[in-house]
Amino acid sequence: MTSDLPNLPDARIPAHVAVIMDGNGRWAKQRLRPRAFGHQAGVKSARRIVRASHKAGVKALTLFAFSQENWQRPPTEVSLLMGLFVRTLRREVGSLHRNGVRIRFIGNHGDFPAELKTLMQDAEALTRDNLGLQLIIAVGYGGHWDIAQAAGSLCRDGLPITPQAIESRLAVADLPHPDLLIRTGGEKRLSNFLMWQLAYTELHLVDTLWPDFDEASFADALSWYASRDRRYGRVPEAS
Ligand code: IPE
Ligand code: IPE
Ligand code: MG
Repeated sequence: MTSDLPNLPDARIPAHVAVIMDGNGRWAKQRLRPRAFGHQAGVKSARRIVRASHKAGVKALTLFAFSQENWQRPPTEVSLLMGLFVRTLRREVGSLHRNGVRIRFIGNHGDFPAELKTLMQDAEALTRDNLGLQLIIAVGYGGHWDIAQAAGSLCRDGLPITPQAIESRLAVADLPHPDLLIRTGGEKRLSNFLMWQLAYTELHLVDTLWPDFDEASFADALSWYASRDRRYGRVPEAS
């Protein structure tokens, strides 16, 4: 389904959108299909939302693809997901690069298959100088891990731990924090996503399962965001 994006003033477009892409398994179950089928459909949805973000003028998009806690899933599902990441990178990186997208991966990748690590490094190197959409893919990611690695790196350098110093050592330190978080799949939790960076993010939590989240759903999220009053602890202007 295609749908026109809302006609919003630039200032009302979120510069950075983060997404917890949840609900693939339930989507497959509804169709009496294995979870793998849902994850494959989830990749299509991710591709759709990358395009829609670019079209809407979003500057950065962070997608949560695999959490540190997801290692606790059955080994068959974990290896299926790793295989899907490999195939998706092989297929998509070229066209993302041609469209000016810069790709980065955040997370603890120590236990990832060597082939996947190489593909991730190659994608980052190939797209390093691209100035279009900044696409951050969180895999093997945990918000606690991110804060701890930032603090650890400051300790190693003998520097004091201040909020500004932690900011400067987060896995992605050069982008503004997300303005809008979308979580699909109905859960009302952060599941250890960007724990530090989401402090003042607007939270759009929807029941739609990730494979069903389309351009119209994304347009709804942007319209909802545009109506928010972001006060950051202050009182409204007119008061
Ligand atoms: C999200 O969908 C994808 C990953 C966590 C990798 P799920 O696999 O969590 O789907 P549900 O929540 O079981 O429906
Ligand atoms: C969050 O989804 C992680 C990703 C979407 C990658 P989960 O399905 O793992 O979250 P919980 O277990 O319901 O909190
Ligand atoms: Mg889930």
